[in-house]
Amino acid sequence: MVKVNGNYLKLKAGYLFPEIGRRVKAFSSANPEAQLIRLGIGDVTEPLPQACRDAMKSAIDEMGTAEGFHGYGPEQGYGWLREAIARDDFQARGCEISAEEIFVSDGSKCDSSNILDILGSGNRIAVTDPVYPVYVDSNVMAGRTGESGDDGRYGGLTYLPISADNGFAAQIPSEPVDLIYLCYPNNPTGAVATKAQLKAWVDYARANKALILFDAAYEAFIQDPELPHSIYEIEGARDCAIEFRSFSKNAGFTGTRCALTVVPKGLKGKADDGSEVELWGLWNRRQSTKFNGVSYIIQRGAEAVYSDAGQQEVKALVSFYMENAAIIRRELSAAGIEVHGGQHAPYVWLKTPSGMDSWSFFDHLLQKANVVGTPGSGFGAAGEGYFRLSAFNSRSNVDEAMARIRNL
Ligand code: MLT
Repeated sequence: MVKVNGNYLKLKAGYLFPEIGRRVKAFSSANPEAQLIRLGIGDVTEPLPQACRDAMKSAIDEMGTAEGFHGYGPEQGYGWLREAIARDDFQARGCEISAEEIFVSDGSKCDSSNILDILGSGNRIAVTDPVYPVYVDSNVMAGRTGESGDDGRYGGLTYLPISADNGFAAQIPSEPVDLIYLCYPNNPTGAVATKAQLKAWVDYARANKALILFDAAYEAFIQDPELPHSIYEIEGARDCAIEFRSFSKNAGFTGTRCALTVVPKGLKGKADDGSEVELWGLWNRRQSTKFNGVSYIIQRGAEAVYSDAGQQEVKALVSFYMENAAIIRRELSAAGIEVHGGQHAPYVWLKTPSGMDSWSFFDHLLQKANVVGTPGSGFGAAGEGYFRLSAFNSRSNVDEAMARIRNL
């Protein structure tokens, strides 16, 4: 009989969001009249920008002509999109990133997992706790961890607790690590990193020849112009960091799928024989072998994000969701709940009231307010006693959810 990948059997229960889905489905079947409001998974709700839709429609029309038809595109993404990204997202912020170093993809969740293909086993890996579960689970699946303990933590990983005590800032570990996952603005806590904090990580990584995997999927939600959007705003980061970005949250592409990964030329890892190898070449090889690129139509839609009209619409979308976050923060604070995040990120991280554990609060909110959130413990042991609410929803749903929570 065919053998399965036994690493999958090490995974704790289900992936967090399907698990929430199962509980919500069971509740809805038992209570078909309940009008649920979903502030759980961070999935956008507002329409795609007009500029993106127009560009996609034109691309479809082009595809209907012999001259404008596109078959397989470059696995790395079309040059015109990579140029726009390099220019507007990076060079405009003083980052030395070229179009060739941008790899267009179908998601930063996928890329942050797929990147393990080019990294060896035996790396000491650091993740924050709480953490976006994909970083941990993809390492478990790839056999890069030990078994999980009673607290849900996996052997072989270095956990960096982030909590109100350290301002939700990941602290440099006392033990040496080779691979560090950082996500800023942070999912799930909504915290953001300053330049000084990122510099400390870049300095650490360079001194220890470590690699930072920097997830900047929520950079568009940063409100303070002093805060860094990219790790490459920090000097030396080209030598020690890969960055992931996405069109999902700023431009509403969760359903259409487009993202990017930056692998700087000259960024190196070590081969088994001790020689140094460029990661760019390995990632390029990986993508060319296992990926056929994002569709032409979708990449034209993503390119429109960089047009004047697209920029205005994306800014309006981000402001809309950030107003939702402000409403959630304000209403929860007024209800006496301790809130964090939600100022530079679309997630509000709250302390569960009355010392309830995270899943009890999940059930309480679901049953009493018919509001779905995400239990903090689903993001790691240190998330216990916390809860995440997403600002991605319509204004009327956010207002209604807050009214229901106020009346609990
Ligand atoms: C979340 O809710 O954490 C998001 O859905 C993450 C993601 O985009 O995969």
